[in-house]
Amino acid sequence: MTTSTMKAVRIHAYGGSEMLHYEDNVPRPVLRPDDLLIRVRAAAVNPVDWKIREGWLQELLHHTLPLTLGWDVSGEVVAVGSEVSGFNVGDAVYARPDIERDGAYAEYIAVKASEAAHKPTTLDHIHAAAVPLTALTAWQVLVDAARLQAGQTVLIHAAAGGVGSLAVQLAKVYGARVIATASAVNTGLVTELGADQFIDYTQTRFEEAVKDVDVVFDTLGGDTQERSWQVLKPGGILVSVVSPPSEAVAAGRGVRSAFVFIHPSGEQLTVIARLIDEGRMKPLIHTVLQLNEVRQAHTISQGSHARGKIVLHVAD
Ligand SMILES: NC(=O)c1ccc[n+]([C@@H]2O[C@H](COP(=O)([O-])OP(=O)(O)OC[C@H]3O[C@@H](n4cnc5c(N)ncnc54)[C@H](OP(=O)(O)O)[C@@H]3O)[C@@H](O)[C@H]2O)c1
Repeated sequence: MTTSTMKAVRIHAYGGSEMLHYEDNVPRPVLRPDDLLIRVRAAAVNPVDWKIREGWLQELLHHTLPLTLGWDVSGEVVAVGSEVSGFNVGDAVYARPDIERDGAYAEYIAVKASEAAHKPTTLDHIHAAAVPLTALTAWQVLVDAARLQAGQTVLIHAAAGGVGSLAVQLAKVYGARVIATASAVNTGLVTELGADQFIDYTQTRFEEAVKDVDVVFDTLGGDTQERSWQVLKPGGILVSVVSPPSEAVAAGRGVRSAFVFIHPSGEQLTVIARLIDEGRMKPLIHTVLQLNEVRQAHTISQGSHARGKIVLHVAD
């Protein structure tokens, strides 16, 4: 490394996509003893990026501006902290880093080694960057919170999205029966991912087509969450990643509920990499843009109709 600065996309104030600034002279991250310094090859865009950019999550997350956004990364290790074992310079890794530190819309990112894993060997960096945040979300909802079992039925909302498309595949890995919602244009896609039953939410009210579900995976909140209670069987569970479901409603209906805000986990990413390399899961890419096209990437994400992930190419 010959310079101490890098290119990065930062915000200096909360607001619209015009707040995203592609800058040349951003200080490189400082390596802590338990960190890896990663040369970023690709970074994925997630809805949380523009929610933070808009300033919606200020009560939940502690950020100091200017802030580099982007918490999905695939790249190469260029330095290893003094307390780190298990990783070496040159390793290809992927991670969903700590969301309260600077993110991956940059040439370099410092990531706790415990948050990273060796990337799936069958994926290039663009596809690997599309995995961590959404796959960890699917894992922590279906496996950790819902304790999904073979033979159970799961309803997955927004199955063509970043989270939903991996959740459908993970639920099939666990031997569940999957009911998926999306619009008609995504029927073939979601069925190909493994969904057993498809509901076009623009034509059919899902609560009229589905009943006796063990697990609802709520990626939409609001009205979708409210209508989801009625499809659960007694003892079933509604898990949301958007807004905490009412515990009182759950108790009144004899069902359970949970809200998940995901945490980084290199251990879970190692298992997920194995599933991907075994051909049991794959990321879905909506589009690939360059780092300096990040405003366009946010506009697409905010449109709420991406099919899978939007990925930023950072370096070859
Ligand atoms: N709490 C956490 O830790 C956590 C973690 C990850 C994500 N999240 C949140 O989870 C949400 C989903 O994330 P994501 O990355 O999957 O978003 P996304 O990729 O932007 O989702 C886009 C998808 O939503 C579908 N969709 C839109 N409206 C729908 C509806 N009414 N019914 C069914 N599908 C609908 C679209 O399908 P069509 O084009 O077919 O309509 C599209 O494929 C976001 O709000 C995100 O912030 C939270």
